[in-house]
Amino acid sequence: MHPPLIVGNWKMYKTASEGREFIRDFLKLYTAKSSVDVAIAPPFTAIHSLHEALQSSPITLAAQNVFCEHEGAFTGEVSPPMLKDLGCTSVILGHSERRQHFGEDNDLINRKVHSALSHQLRPILCVGELLREREAGQTNAVIEKQLLEGLKDISAEHMGQMTIAYEPVWAIGTGKAATVDQATEVHTLIGAVLENTWGTKRETIRIVYGGSVNPDNADSLFQSPQINGALVGKACLNPDSFVKIIGSAHRSLN
Ligand code: 13P
Repeated sequence: MHPPLIVGNWKMYKTASEGREFIRDFLKLYTAKSSVDVAIAPPFTAIHSLHEALQSSPITLAAQNVFCEHEGAFTGEVSPPMLKDLGCTSVILGHSERRQHFGEDNDLINRKVHSALSHQLRPILCVGELLREREAGQTNAVIEKQLLEGLKDISAEHMGQMTIAYEPVWAIGTGKAATVDQATEVHTLIGAVLENTWGTKRETIRIVYGGSVNPDNADSLFQSPQINGALVGKACLNPDSFVKIIGSAHRSLN
């Protein structure tokens, strides 16, 4: 099994200089633990300065999005080689905020996953249901569709590069995280879909949870062997709470 993975998704917060300041404070509090992988996903504009600030630490850089073409006349877009060149090793794809505000569908997300993989950028594919879908008993069907369409034609070999993030939309930014049981149930389903469709062994892929993870609920979430880390939004913007969540992941291994 891989070590747990904690990813801080800064969303559209922090300028490059605010990002540098954050890393200075964060590194004073953070003691690297080889048992937990940590990544930060800043806005594009802060990637370069974070790459410099993180030089001597094991923390890796993720992007929050990428376009599916290598280069071309695509005003405003950023390509996988551009992110690789800046030091990113992974990229968040299919985040519900991209699906909701920017009209990204499973087909576009799938093209982005293929493109990222072909440039050795590891995708963190987000899936998750809306509140009304959960209330209508459609959670499993929604998650399965997002996986099958988002990962269409991905080779079994490439599945080893993937991370899946279960982010129920109703839990994002609401302060109302999924319960351990709710998350465990969906993570188990995700594992089964990957195994049945790609033959992916559960222990070879990380399935992380996202949605109102904070220092108070992280310990209990990480107790579930199905929850292999977290994609953290609001609570990662503060160095102290981000460090505490990483500490919870570390403690869960003992
Ligand atoms: P919050 O932790 O702010 O709920 O955001 C979760 C998220 O969207 C991470 O990608």
